[in-house]
Amino acid sequence: MNNAFSMQDGTLCADGVKLEELAARHGTPFYVYSAPAMRGRADALRQAFAATLPPERQPLVTFACKANSNVAVLRLFAGMGIGADIVSGGEMARALKAGVPPSRIVFSGVGKTDAEMDDALRHGILQVNIESEPEMERLAARAAAAQVPVGVAFRLNPDVEAGTHAKITTGKGENKFGMPAATVARLYRRAAADPWLRPRGISMHIGSQLTALEPFRLAFEKMAALARTLEAEGLAPESLDIGGGLGVVYRADTQAPPDLHGYAALVRDIIAPLGTQIILEPGRFLVAEAGALVARTLFVKKGEDREYLILDAGMNDLMRPALYDAWHTILPVRDEAGRPRRIYDIVGPVCETGDTFAKDREMPEMRDGELAAVMTAGAYGFVMASPYNTRPLPAEIMVDGTRSAVIRARETAEEIIGRDIVPGWME
Ligand code: LLP
Repeated sequence: MNNAFSMQDGTLCADGVKLEELAARHGTPFYVYSAPAMRGRADALRQAFAATLPPERQPLVTFACKANSNVAVLRLFAGMGIGADIVSGGEMARALKAGVPPSRIVFSGVGKTDAEMDDALRHGILQVNIESEPEMERLAARAAAAQVPVGVAFRLNPDVEAGTHAKITTGKGENKFGMPAATVARLYRRAAADPWLRPRGISMHIGSQLTALEPFRLAFEKMAALARTLEAEGLAPESLDIGGGLGVVYRADTQAPPDLHGYAALVRDIIAPLGTQIILEPGRFLVAEAGALVARTLFVKKGEDREYLILDAGMNDLMRPALYDAWHTILPVRDEAGRPRRIYDIVGPVCETGDTFAKDREMPEMRDGELAAVMTAGAYGFVMASPYNTRPLPAEIMVDGTRSAVIRARETAEEIIGRDIVPGWME
């Protein structure tokens, strides 16, 4: 557990709000996020940099809103002066709606459409992070057509091993992301000569849920070397965007939190000497621990050789265990002394064996109808949910002290089905 969630009067609370009360009022499953916990993570990151770099060299923090793009969450960060790292026109619209100024928006991703590029031009965002030569040529053409200059950074693929899950590793040469240093340098020269492209710098993101600093160090060194090469040609970057990737603790028994000060010190030692603006794109770190998915136990089913704890939330609500074999701690919401411990396969109702939150998980004995909380679900939880099996997307709730508010209404089956159209010729 972390400071967002605690047992009070024998029941699990998010800040000062009982999850039982939220469940009674809004039904299950739902995501709940603690606003103070999100602010606290952002403050911790900033304090690490405040203690490490002089005031005029503080990084621009852009929240990778793919991790949790609810407009209320983006508004919370916007209110702290945090920008947005977006990867689609939809995320751009969310960030703008939340009040993130375009001057704090960076646009990442390997596959931007013409319409998305046009949006970026129209709103005059800080920079588009370019991932390939055809993307640069397309953006140059759109900018010329619109007669709007556009800030660009070039994403370096530093070819380092991030030491994380293969599906969320992005900085190896074999990954689809970014470009080798020589390509970045070539495109940089080309962009510098373009009337509409304004090369701002280099970007990078080597992977997510990194728990060691060494991959960052190797990648930062490659970025700094490339920046020096460009500098020597009179093309000194104005900005270095070092991406996100800072991990969080999913399992307190086996994991340690990332060393924020060590991370900031790497930035000070390797990136800061280049004298550029520094951009960070943290996603998970800012929100993961602030959130939980709350579900109700439908049944405890006795199988041949095991017991299944069947929840009313499934892989469609939280995909991480099915997709990455991710561990999420699962707690009974009611804390009762002296409950026997049981070993469960904790599953959802979706018709796939992969719809398993945890296998052979030891936890207090659960009863039908009891609430369970899937912890550390504030990042890549709701945003990856789907209506598979025509299961409506869950509600999202934010708490702040003793206040709570639904920040996204639960979807209804009617809303899902209402978008289907039976062609007239079938009538
Ligand atoms: N910047 C870029 C360009 C990214 O692609 C990502 C994440 C981030 C920043 C933020 O990374 P973070 O600080 O959150 O590690 N769905 C997966 C994670 C996918 C991450 C994709 N890119 C999961 O649930 O673990």
